[in-house]
Amino acid sequence: MSSSVSQNLNEVSAGFKRYNRAADNNKAVILKQLQRLLNDGDRLLEIGSGSGQHAVYVADALKKIQWQPSDRGPYFASLQANLAQVTLSNLATPLYLDVSSFDIPGIFDAVFCANVFHIMPADLIEPMFSGVDRSLSDAGVFVVYGPFKYGGEFTTASNEQFDGWLKSQEAHQGIRDIEMLIAGAAKFGLTLSEDNPMPANNQLLVFRRQSQSLENFVPGA
Ligand SMILES: C[S@@+](CC[C@H](N)C(=O)[O-])C[C@H]1O[C@@H](n2cnc3c(N)ncnc32)[C@H](O)[C@@H]1O
Repeated sequence: MSSSVSQNLNEVSAGFKRYNRAADNNKAVILKQLQRLLNDGDRLLEIGSGSGQHAVYVADALKKIQWQPSDRGPYFASLQANLAQVTLSNLATPLYLDVSSFDIPGIFDAVFCANVFHIMPADLIEPMFSGVDRSLSDAGVFVVYGPFKYGGEFTTASNEQFDGWLKSQEAHQGIRDIEMLIAGAAKFGLTLSEDNPMPANNQLLVFRRQSQSLENFVPGA
């Protein structure tokens, strides 16, 4: 493909390996939040890009953002194959990144992940925040999309059912308590500064360095 102008990226994405319908459903609301949080010229690292649908959609909409996708394990090869079909000058070649050995070179203005915390084991929460701390600029944001529990409670019965299904697939999977993320973040000087309710019982969390965060923020309020 010679230029993104000649590509219908919706059609290209629909043919992606590991295509995820949920990513198609939530990509517009995620874009709206990222548009608000990012600045022209920002470099963004995505963790657990999956099929790459979010990467393609947001990079196409926000041409002044440099998007660095990444993934691990079996998802990495399909992400590479999917993004090889796309020509977007602000979308980089995927990097191999497993949070268990978070060793990405460079500093990013934003780190983003969608639906990763309930898939990776809970004992990777701390390595995740440690890696984000090393990769994030001083004024950077760590944006996390997905479902969470509050005070040990699911926000909805459907999230509880989803949690049961996740565990039936892989024992280490499960919807995390937001308090676990807040505690993990605090070890590396990061604070939850926004907790935005999103459609389909999800949240969009924004972590910032303590020095950049508003005081007295109450999660879920
Ligand atoms: C449910 S998929 C979400 C994919 C995509 N972000 C989306 O929302 O459609 C979960 C993703 O988390 C990634 N993941 C799981 N464990 C990980 C780890 N230890 N390090 C990095 N990514 C991981 C998987 O490879 C997969 O891409």
